Amino acid sequence: MANRRLAPAAEQPAAFAFSSENAEWAKGQIEKYPEGRQASAVIPLLWKAQEQNGGWLPQKAIEAVADELGMPHIRVLEVATFYTMFALEPVGRFWIQLCGTVPCDSCGARELKDYLHQRLGAPGHVSADGNFSWLEVECLGACCNAPMAQINQDYYEDLTPDLLGALMDDLAAGRPVKIGSQVGRTSSEPKGGADTLTDASLFDGSRVGAWRQRFEDKKAEESSEPSGKAEAASSEQRAATDPKPARPDAGRAVSGQSTDAPAQRAAAGQTPVKSGDQTDAADRTESTVRPGEPTPPPVDTVARAEAAGAEAGTQSDLPRNEPPPQPVASGASEGTDEAKAQPAKKPEPTRAAPKTEGN
Ligand code: FES
Repeated sequence: MANRRLAPAAEQPAAFAFSSENAEWAKGQIEKYPEGRQASAVIPLLWKAQEQNGGWLPQKAIEAVADELGMPHIRVLEVATFYTMFALEPVGRFWIQLCGTVPCDSCGARELKDYLHQRLGAPGHVSADGNFSWLEVECLGACCNAPMAQINQDYYEDLTPDLLGALMDDLAAGRPVKIGSQVGRTSSEPKGGADTLTDASLFDGSRVGAWRQRFEDKKAEESSEPSGKAEAASSEQRAATDPKPARPDAGRAVSGQSTDAPAQRAAAGQTPVKSGDQTDAADRTESTVRPGEPTPPPVDTVARAEAAGAEAGTQSDLPRNEPPPQPVASGASEGTDEAKAQPAKKPEPTRAAPKTEGN
C-alpha cells in the first residue's frame, strides 16, 4: 500500500501560491457550489495544485487550498492523505500508478510489479535519471482491459512486462506513445474486434432460432392429428419394424404351487401341520394368558392322550381322522354360557387429574 505521509521537511518548498491563471480557474470551481458549500471544491483545487507543483502535493499547497476554501488545514490534509491520486512526495517525470486489485492481479499485474521492482527499485522513489517513479494503487476503473497502469494523466491497458518496458522506453525518449489498450482494441471492446452483433448466427436462426423452430414443429405435429391416434399409429409402426418377443410372466408375481401346503402334506400321507409347528404352538412361554385367568387346555391334546395311553398300555380313544379339540384362547369365553352368566364389568371411570395452581 502506498505511503501516505508528507514528504520530509527537506523536500518541502517554503511557500505555495496558485499562479494567476490557476487562481482564476480555482475561483470558477468554487463558484459552482452554493454559499456555505465551498469545501466541495477541495478535490479539484488539490488536483490543480499538484499539477502546478510538478505532480506532487507539498504541505504548503495543502494549506493554501484549505485557506482558499476556509477549511481547517487538518481537514484538507485528511483528504490529501486518503486518495492515492495525490502524491505526497516528489515523483518522476512520469509517475506510474500500477493497479494491483483483483481483476488486474488475475490478468498479470504481479508480473508488471516484478518488472517495475527490477527496473526502478522500490515504489515511491524517483529513478536516478528523474524520469520515473511508481506506486501500486487500488482499482482505477479500467478492469475490462486489465492489467493496466496510469502514467501521469493517461491510462495504458492490456499491458505485459514487454509492452510496459517498451512504453517506458518511448516515454523516456520522448517518442509518441499510444494511450489506452496496447493490443489494439478500442475502448473495452472484445479482443479481436467488436463482432458480437455482426455474428450471423444471431440472426439466421441457427443458434437461438433453432430451438424455437423445434418447439413450433412439435406443436404443429401435435395439433395436426389427435394424440391417441398418433400414438397408436406410432406403436403399430414400431411393432412392425421392431417386434419384441412376448414375455407373459414379466413383471407378475410367481403363482406356482407351494411345495409344503397342508393339503399337499395330507395328500402325501403326512400330518397336515408339521410337528415343529405343533411344538411351537404348544410352547407356553409365549402364552397370551394373563396372570389370574383360567389356564387354557393343552394345545396338543391328541399327543398328550397318546403319550398317557402309551404309558398305561392303552390307546387314545380320540378318532385319528377328526381334528383335535382346539385350545381356548384368551378372551374366547366371551359369548359362552359361562361368560354370559358373569355380569359385565363396568369400566372404571377415568378420573380427571386434580388441578394444580397455575393450570
Ligand atoms: S482492477 Fe485494475 S483497473 Fe480495476
